[in-house]
Amino acid sequence: MSNVAKLEYNGQVYELPIITGTENESSVDIRKLRDTTGLVTFDDGYKNTGSTKSKITFIDGDKGILRYRGYGIEELAEKAEFMEVAYLLIYGKLPNEAEYTEWKKQMTRHSLVHEDVKKVFDAYPTGAHPMGQLMTMVGMMSSFYPNSQDPQKMEEDRNLTIIRVMSKMPNLCAMMYKKRIGHPVMYPTNELRYVEDYLSMTFGNPCEKFTVDPVVASALNKLLILHADHEQNCSASTVRMVGSAGTNLWATISAAIAALWGPSHGGANQEVLEMLQEIKDSGITTKQYVEKVKNKEAGVRLMGFGHRVYKNFDPRATIIKKSADDVLKKLGVVDPLLDIAMELEQMALSDSYFVERKLYPNVDFYSGIIYRALGYPTDMFTVLFALGRLPGWVAQWKEMVEEKQPICRPRQIYMGETPRAYQSIKDRK
Ligand code: ACO
Repeated sequence: MSNVAKLEYNGQVYELPIITGTENESSVDIRKLRDTTGLVTFDDGYKNTGSTKSKITFIDGDKGILRYRGYGIEELAEKAEFMEVAYLLIYGKLPNEAEYTEWKKQMTRHSLVHEDVKKVFDAYPTGAHPMGQLMTMVGMMSSFYPNSQDPQKMEEDRNLTIIRVMSKMPNLCAMMYKKRIGHPVMYPTNELRYVEDYLSMTFGNPCEKFTVDPVVASALNKLLILHADHEQNCSASTVRMVGSAGTNLWATISAAIAALWGPSHGGANQEVLEMLQEIKDSGITTKQYVEKVKNKEAGVRLMGFGHRVYKNFDPRATIIKKSADDVLKKLGVVDPLLDIAMELEQMALSDSYFVERKLYPNVDFYSGIIYRALGYPTDMFTVLFALGRLPGWVAQWKEMVEEKQPICRPRQIYMGETPRAYQSIKDRK
């Protein structure tokens, strides 16, 4: 295979090196393009741009492959604990027994949050969206740890910040829920595992002993693994964009949470449930809803369908669909929204509008059904996504810092006014 691409422009031929990744995907190296030709590339939405080299996650969107550090998502979702996967993403290897014991110890040792955090939290208006609160709370944590503010500092300091971010996040996420229902905030329990502890802080209360349902814990463990990383998606790219300025990890994660909140990204899981509920409440048929989507009426999309990278199937959606069925059965939950979702999926998969555009269910299509069965209100769904995606964001940030990635600063194609003279206000139209 050729190791250069040729570009002919203005009668000259330029050679551009080809970079090949470990899975044989090739890219044209355009880093010297502007210097040699005066040209920049145009690719709005970065649909065709490799923004970094990374060793963390591999996706083949056409074949529906997703691997973290070389391990298939199917195997990890089946066999691993979320904390093992977090370690794998962040440190590049599955932990051995000693490493895992130490990692879990660190996760419990740092899980308390400063009591003053609650004062800020208390000032939030009741009913504020949990993602807005989470974004602020995580960003604010940098003020409690001034040492975290220079990420280029020693590796040990950086690692301590990583441990703090990872270990305090379940506590912060649980607080959102407690505030929402007007219950007192719960403290972590060190003898519980990460996922169990999070569930206990969410659904436990100070008046009685809380026992974690293993079905719920196992379902959440799987969901968190499935969400743990997805290479250079919108929020991970936000991590690299913000972090490339030398910004500390807390503030960077806060920015990633903001990106995830959007309905085209993680916010879709909430929108899917709202869509299913709307179909149920309005009494329209799924066929009528699909027609509405196809007519592009009022910009309605089939939420939970379509993906920038997966153009065949999303392997996470396949696992989640099976899991949704399983969890509902085990918990004895009958949810009419699951039937509507299955009907919608069938209809869309056999409709030429969706087939031609290669639109398939994504990770968000069925996840909300499970979150609902576990007892979460709709506006907490994206918070759960954030909890799952955290190790991925941390891994992307760590890799970026260690590889000394240059500050992200894209170019643009200016389409505005050419030079013109200032007019005094009385002369303006
Ligand atoms: N419903 C109906 N039509 C759709 C959908 C959808 N969900 N998604 C894309 N299309 C159509 C577009 O209207 C467009 O049609 P056109 O060619 O007639 O103009 C075509 O498919 C291509 O769509 P784009 O928006 O160009 O595709 P892109 O790759 O930019 O967007 C995205 C991907 C944002 C995920 C999109 O499919 C979407 O909005 N889906 C719904 C929201 C969603 O589920 N987001 C979660 C994504 S997964 C995640 O972030 C965890």
